[in-house]
Amino acid sequence: MNKIIDFHRRSIVDPEGFWRREAGRIHWEAPFDRVLDVSRLPFARWFVGGQTNLCYNAVDRWLPQFADRPALIWVSTEVDQERAYTRQALYEEVNAAAAMLRALGVGRGDRVLIYMPMVPEAVFTMLACARIGAVHSVVFGGFASVNLAQRIDDAAPKVVVSTDAGSRAGKVVPYKPLLDKALSLCARPPRSVVIFDRGLAPFEPAAGRDLDYASLRREHWGERVPVQWLESSEPSYVLYTSGTTGKPKGVQRDTGGYAVALAASMEYIFDGKPGDTYFCTSDIGWVVGHSYIIYGPLIGGQSSILYEGTPVRPDGAVLWSLVERYRVNTLFSSPTAVRVLKRQDPALLKRHDVSSLRAVYLAGEPLDEPTARWLSDGLGKPIVDNYWQTESGWPILAAQPGVERTPTRFGSPSFPVYGFDARIVSEATGEDLPPGEKGVVAIVPPLPPGAMSTIWGDDERFVQTYFTSIPGRQCYSTFDWGRVDQDGYWFILGRTDDVINVAGHRLGTREIEESISSHAGVAECAVVGVADALKGQVAMAFVVLKQAVETGQTEEAGKLEGDIMRVVEGQLGAVARPARIRFVGALPKTRSGKVLRRAIVAVCEHRDPGDLTTIEDPTALEQIKESLK
Ligand code: PRX
Repeated sequence: MNKIIDFHRRSIVDPEGFWRREAGRIHWEAPFDRVLDVSRLPFARWFVGGQTNLCYNAVDRWLPQFADRPALIWVSTEVDQERAYTRQALYEEVNAAAAMLRALGVGRGDRVLIYMPMVPEAVFTMLACARIGAVHSVVFGGFASVNLAQRIDDAAPKVVVSTDAGSRAGKVVPYKPLLDKALSLCARPPRSVVIFDRGLAPFEPAAGRDLDYASLRREHWGERVPVQWLESSEPSYVLYTSGTTGKPKGVQRDTGGYAVALAASMEYIFDGKPGDTYFCTSDIGWVVGHSYIIYGPLIGGQSSILYEGTPVRPDGAVLWSLVERYRVNTLFSSPTAVRVLKRQDPALLKRHDVSSLRAVYLAGEPLDEPTARWLSDGLGKPIVDNYWQTESGWPILAAQPGVERTPTRFGSPSFPVYGFDARIVSEATGEDLPPGEKGVVAIVPPLPPGAMSTIWGDDERFVQTYFTSIPGRQCYSTFDWGRVDQDGYWFILGRTDDVINVAGHRLGTREIEESISSHAGVAECAVVGVADALKGQVAMAFVVLKQAVETGQTEEAGKLEGDIMRVVEGQLGAVARPARIRFVGALPKTRSGKVLRRAIVAVCEHRDPGDLTTIEDPTALEQIKESLK
């Protein structure tokens, strides 16, 4: 383990020397003057003065070597289609999309909001934005109108690119009605909306606003759009994520630092090389999709598989059949996907030739030991648990087989990744804690290249949110609990805040509470994350009504539960819908009025709720217990 420890140490004691070497992995149109500017910590600027472009590094740069090799392979088991785009074809598509956006008046620094399912046109649009220096903001397709409206208002995009519909488990999921609803709620609607019509759900285009992707593509086909060279710290994208408040944060990413960080990770963390094939099953609406469906593999000169479908359709071997067919070298998925597969016939794991595969990477939520072991034994491949966040942009903790092969310890995402000065600190004193003790996972600034540069439009909130919760020092808080064992392996022990993680989807309980409270009958509510064998966690809502109904399994309660579920689904999307809603007469609170969430979670998980001396009304917790029967 000496090599990996030394590698990490070098990146921390001499960040400039370390990252100067790594910067050589990408194309710089103009060299940087300085590797790192920390004059305004916690803000950090990487590769100051250097000029580069994400699209150029992902597409143009690899044309001489790989023009005829597949760059993007789209497989949809939803609509039974497959299309492979060579790097040259990708170049053509991206140029057409860039010409289309340019014609709509989009230029450097302008925002484009993308609300699309897993179709290649979404990737073309993202890369086209990067090409012309526009800032993309992709909104996950599982989100609905209120989420979407909030993000449109915050990013103020010139153009929204969307579609008629997606498809999930064989069922058409219309996007256009949700978008129309969102636009009607928006204070700052965009000038133009481009719709990629898949022919899945008929819709009425809004005259003067809605344009057709296919027609614009035809119109601009063959045009060449020059690359807009950006200063390294100029934003490449904004990706919204949930926190403690009801207002999502626009995580802003830079350009040069991100490209370098991803390029380096392809070798050190993913142990890959140009010409490899990478398959990440995440969604382009999440950070894993941004970094490891699109930018990482493409900047690393690899082929990337874009998969629209679930892991169990047409059967539970579909992922392995794709690994076999495309000779996939790296597979990246989520613990929930593996737990879903675990319910299938184990023989499915052996049906295909997966000899091309080096390892399976899993992230986004805690990976329990039995799940990791099941997959590792069944496939005969190493499993690499990696821990990170939308904010970090790439792994904070992970094994790094490209640096050194280290033994796996199931349940642990191994060690801090080079560039991240990660510590376990005391919540009370802010001091570093010794091995074995539980504390907050914190990162001493500067954050490495590729990590968030700020919150979109709100530097103050960036500092306040992330750098003020550790007492006595300016440290980035991940808002996760962690512990390091005697051998240096790290363990993640859950969130310190009210963020929950449902099937790898990060959700703010506050947002769900606000949505539930918008129902006219609701006086107040509390939403908590409760352990679930399949999804890791599910949301449970406890609701106090303005007018008490007969609670329990009455018809009235059942109808109200359905009504509230529909409100949440319509506003936030199906991903945010609580697993269950229970009606209670009061919420357990402290005497100062704070809801005792940890006690509620404990009761839901049949654990001891612990110290209740501050509770105002002990019967409130009893009611929660009763409501669960
Ligand atoms: O709580 C941690 C959990 O997911 C959060 C970040 O979610 P998101 O911003 O959606 O980014 C996901 C990027 C992979 C973290 O704060 N989390 C993520 N990976 C792990 C994890 N928890 C335990 N183990 C992991 N490997």
